[in-house]
Amino acid sequence: MTDLTDGVLHTLFQSEQGGHEQVVLCQDRASGLKAVIAIHSTALGPALGGTRFYPYASEAEALADALNLARGMSYKNALAGLGHGGGKAVIIGDPETLKSEELLLAYGRFVDSLGGRYVTACDVGTYVADMDVVARETRWATGRSPEHGGAGDSSVLTAYGVFQGMRACAEQLWDAPTLSGRTVGVAGVGKVGHHLVTHLLEDGARVVITDVREESVRRVLDRHPEVTAVPDTAALIRTEGLDVYAPCALGGALDDHTVPVLTARAVCGAANNQLAHPGVEKDLADRSILYAPDYVVNAGGVIQVADELHGFDFDRCKAKAAKIYDTTLEIFARAKKDGVPPAVAADRIAEQRMAEARIR
Ligand SMILES: NC(=O)c1ccc[n+]([C@@H]2O[C@H](COP(=O)([O-])OP(=O)(O)OC[C@H]3O[C@@H](n4cnc5c(N)ncnc54)[C@H](O)[C@@H]3O)[C@@H](O)[C@H]2O)c1
Repeated sequence: MTDLTDGVLHTLFQSEQGGHEQVVLCQDRASGLKAVIAIHSTALGPALGGTRFYPYASEAEALADALNLARGMSYKNALAGLGHGGGKAVIIGDPETLKSEELLLAYGRFVDSLGGRYVTACDVGTYVADMDVVARETRWATGRSPEHGGAGDSSVLTAYGVFQGMRACAEQLWDAPTLSGRTVGVAGVGKVGHHLVTHLLEDGARVVITDVREESVRRVLDRHPEVTAVPDTAALIRTEGLDVYAPCALGGALDDHTVPVLTARAVCGAANNQLAHPGVEKDLADRSILYAPDYVVNAGGVIQVADELHGFDFDRCKAKAAKIYDTTLEIFARAKKDGVPPAVAADRIAEQRMAEARIR
């Protein structure tokens, strides 16, 4: 066995990052499917988390990613107030070349074989149309198209949830739950970011944006000429008078280079895994920058897919996503009480919720 596999098994069985209830390796040679389904916890209910389709360098790397992502979903779902534990699946290979109907159907049969202990959805490399195919083999697939009983694109509610998290930041910093009169920088105005811009403008904020895709910037400026665009994220995070920075592009936005130069008083955005490495949450706190944990404020999407299982209702979901405001404030209060950064406080609250559910 390679060192890496040893490492993964060590993670699973020995480390604090492990403790997963079940890990399933799936193979269908006819279609080329190789997948890992990792169920981290079902303490709060069936494990819920998307399927990532990615050309991993090795099977061991894929397995490690599945374990890590599944664990993250347990925390996310717990803090979103969902009756779901955490799970995640990865399909190994390049979706551009490997993805086929046959493969997705084979994958659906594996999901089905778990009898509802794992509920899947979209993630990097899988889309609504793919979940429609998976759902032909299992009722435990969400993130489907409205034509197939699904809720479709989740970015509307994700943006709404991020906006609620940002209102909580404003309440914490300025004693009023509004961005009115504040300057907010949005890095990445794709599916989520451009909806967030609309919420912010409606609330009376000044908005500065950037995006590597010229057409994404153009779409926002055409609709909202009052928005200011800057050339890149490096310029955005140094904007004078910036109150809030909203990373809405890729992960790793907060690192040893960006944190020291941030002009914002708060960070609250949709991007997953914003903290590039452990310790960045402390660097932010040391600079008195309030950080709203990414996995808490971007939970609108998972709230939406969870709702699909009960027949999607937009208003019900919106009401749940609105609670991200309260949860974010609860995290800030716990952080203050325990003398820890909000990211640590969030993890503690999630762990408490899972532990209490196990006792019941
Ligand atoms: N869509 C959802 O419901 C959802 C839910 C939870 C988390 N997220 C996370 O939120 C983030 C945004 O998701 P999305 O669905 O809007 O994706 P998207 O691909 O539609 O938008 C991302 C945007 O960021 C831009 N971008 C990429 N690199 C950049 C850079 N270096 N600087 C500036 N802009 C850059 C892209 O051009 C694109 O316009 C992702 O990290 C995603 O994982 C999304």
